Amino acid sequence: MSSPVRSNGTQSESGDAGGSPRMPLRMTINGTPHQLEIDPRESLLDVLRERLDLTGAKKGCNQGACGACTVLVNGRRINSCLTLAALCHDAQVRTIEGLSAPGDALHPLQAAFIAHDGFQCGFCTAGQIMSGVACLDEGHAGSADEVRFWMSGNICRCGAYPGIVAAIAELGQRKLP
Ligand code: FES
Ligand code: FES
Repeated sequence: MSSPVRSNGTQSESGDAGGSPRMPLRMTINGTPHQLEIDPRESLLDVLRERLDLTGAKKGCNQGACGACTVLVNGRRINSCLTLAALCHDAQVRTIEGLSAPGDALHPLQAAFIAHDGFQCGFCTAGQIMSGVACLDEGHAGSADEVRFWMSGNICRCGAYPGIVAAIAELGQRKLP
């Protein structure tokens, strides 16, 4: 995709008053290159949410326990609350906002979540779907039991697990020969 480089975050929304250190960060997010100046202590989740307005990934626990902040970095699912943005220099980041191209239909897993009622309040849903996409890519979605095991890092307080598991397992089984 030939998108212009976006520059953002050259001024911190907070923390500059104390003269916190800054560093340049270059990332491609959902196909768009970004150049930022960040505090090296910032998490990837905070950079996505607070600087780039990509608020699909949620801050649930902020300590790696719930999976609500799951995004893909270089194709691998990670908890963005525990990942220093500084470690993502030159990385390819994919968030729920980039799962389907603008104007395109929903990603098949998004459609499956709707079909299977895989959410209630929706707070965990972006993380569930991004983790589910990775789970499918990893080949860990061949059965409901396998999905339950490999999705165990994504917590749903509403208890929408039956629909979540059914949605991912349906796609996993479709991919099976
Ligand atoms: S907010 Fe990152 S794991 Fe809970
Ligand atoms: S749908 Fe509410 S936390 Fe999962």
